[in-house]
Amino acid sequence: MKNIIFILLTLLASTTVYSMDLTDTQVKNLVKNAQEARLKAYAPYSTYQVGAALLSEDGQIIQGCNVENASYGLTNCAERSAIFSAVSMGKKNFQAISVVTKDGGSPCGACRQVINEFNPDMVVIIAKEDGTVVAKKTLRELLPEAFGPKNLQDTIECTPKK
Ligand code: THU
Repeated sequence: MKNIIFILLTLLASTTVYSMDLTDTQVKNLVKNAQEARLKAYAPYSTYQVGAALLSEDGQIIQGCNVENASYGLTNCAERSAIFSAVSMGKKNFQAISVVTKDGGSPCGACRQVINEFNPDMVVIIAKEDGTVVAKKTLRELLPEAFGPKNLQDTIECTPKK
């Protein structure tokens, strides 16, 4: 019995470690890409430029920046820009995302929810404009007890047909 508990605990620990298991080079590369994306931000209203870089399971990095709008509410955040671009490219499996702002700001609630849609264990790297990493967390830590696809699994058959 003890052995089984030990094996289960080891398996659980290794799963957790695996999800945060990015090499230094991968982290640096993601931050560099987010810095680069930040320079493309369209933020004439807030002037708060945000860059994001998403690491896809196939190793590709997809950049995104915030795109503001004169009607304010239509603004799209950098993280969501990156995810929507990646999905439009046919990618749906992501390992990590980095976000760069001038002050190391954390992803907003809407972006946390969208990241959760694709991988609750996604590693989120938060950095300042000079590349200093201020936090490296899983999405689960940033958005505990999230509502997500799992909540709708049983309702799919109930979706009204046309
Ligand atoms: N912004 C992002 O791009 N990501 C976030 O997670 C927080 C906020 C953008 C939206 C807006 O263009 C600017 O930052 C100020 O809110």
